[in-house]
Amino acid sequence: MKIDTASLARQQLHDLIGNIISPLPIAFISTVGPDGTHNASPFSFVAPVCTKPPIICVSFALKRGQKKDTVRNIESTGDFVINVVDEAIIQQAIQASGDYPSGVDELKETGLTAIKSDRVKSPRVAEAKINLECRMVQKLEIMEEGAGLRAIVFGEVLVMHIKDEVWVNGEIDPFRLKPVGRVGRNLYCRTGDIIEVKRTEIKA
Ligand SMILES: Cc1cc2nc3c(=O)[nH]c(=O)nc-3n(C[C@H](O)[C@H](O)[C@H](O)COP(=O)(O)O)c2cc1C
Repeated sequence: MKIDTASLARQQLHDLIGNIISPLPIAFISTVGPDGTHNASPFSFVAPVCTKPPIICVSFALKRGQKKDTVRNIESTGDFVINVVDEAIIQQAIQASGDYPSGVDELKETGLTAIKSDRVKSPRVAEAKINLECRMVQKLEIMEEGAGLRAIVFGEVLVMHIKDEVWVNGEIDPFRLKPVGRVGRNLYCRTGDIIEVKRTEIKA
């Protein structure tokens, strides 16, 4: 099989990229609107791009030609929180991506708890084992054929909250964290089968 990407529609390409760059992470992003309403939704087009300062980028499509609530809230406050999705909260995080009208608090709807952040206005999700308080440092826009302007937001991580239960000997234990990845449209993977692969050191 050989695919000329120009021959595919946007949705087909979206699904293929999600299958190929896989597993994708799931960043459950919580924000707050100008009226104080909390908002939370999952996003997988997410990547770390710099380590000091620690910067993570997230790519947001439009929804029915309009900016998503998450993007509007980030533009208004200049911040957001990335909550890591693990096996214990995957169901709620996916449910929160439902077509809830603006003004509906997806955290309340899905039975999750918003708690105050230290340095940003956006709330943290109490049930997540890791929360990253982020401040937007840059935003790019890319015109996407048939879909309009996609926003790519770069956030600097100001504070990392890591629960003691996953912090072992000065590092995060992935066996305890149990993060979930996305491997297809409605397909997710557990990370219970982690392997260690070492390389032979080459003398420079
Ligand atoms: C696992 C998963 C990953 C998603 N990743 C993205 C993404 O990277 N970018 C995006 O624009 N939408 C993504 N979505 C869709 C949003 O979660 C969805 O449009 C949501 O309703 C947006 O909510 P908001 O309007 O409250 O911001 C994803 C959905 C799921 C279930």
